[in-house]
Amino acid sequence: MKKIIITIDGWSSCGKSTLAKQLAKALNYLYVDSGAMYRAITLYFLRNHIDWTDKKEVHNALKDISLEFIYNPKSERSEIYLNEENVEYVIRDMVVAEKVSDVAAIKEVREYAVKQQQKMGKNRGIVMDGRDIGTVVFPDAELKIFMTADNAVRVERRFQELYEKNPNITIEEVKNNLELRDYIDSHREVSPLHQAEDAIVLDNTNLTEKEQFHKALKLAHKHI
Ligand code: C5P
Repeated sequence: MKKIIITIDGWSSCGKSTLAKQLAKALNYLYVDSGAMYRAITLYFLRNHIDWTDKKEVHNALKDISLEFIYNPKSERSEIYLNEENVEYVIRDMVVAEKVSDVAAIKEVREYAVKQQQKMGKNRGIVMDGRDIGTVVFPDAELKIFMTADNAVRVERRFQELYEKNPNITIEEVKNNLELRDYIDSHREVSPLHQAEDAIVLDNTNLTEKEQFHKALKLAHKHI
């Protein structure tokens, strides 16, 4: 069977990773959460007090970072390791969420991440979600999905997810963070978030996870 590349881009918290993991499992593909890479780099910068406005500091810091992904299709769990430490849980923190879009807007950081992402997809058979995957990382991907959903629905979903970990979080905090990240992500100079010309839009405001998955799987089978 032909192996393809599936890219899933879109706004924050519209269920990209849920769909990407389901597709990867169904097709027995590799799954890569590119956002986790930017989050892990941000975590490293915060922990090591890197001044990311200083190009040289960023350049040197990136040399000390190694990232690794482990995806278990059975459990649909994906984990990212930063210098051999599992940081999958800690990178979801608000402290990281508040800074990640600033770090992800840095040219050197993007070059570093994109290079690794392209390497991971060199044998195809991969589903990757993010913001610039169909436009910059794999412009030649066979299937490009651009996901969207109503703002209120996205805020509520992310709030539920974060509330489980931190009951002190407020819906206002989550809303402000999503809006700010979407703004920075779509207005930055390098690789801003926008829909690839050949992407298929999937609005899941009124779709169940199952319905969304079946739609996407059908699209994938057209190319396989
Ligand atoms: O996907 P997730 O919300 O975890 O991504 C966190 C942040 O990483 C995004 O808000 C964005 O700033 C950045 N990102 C990016 N390019 C990607 C994936 C994520 O700039 N391909």
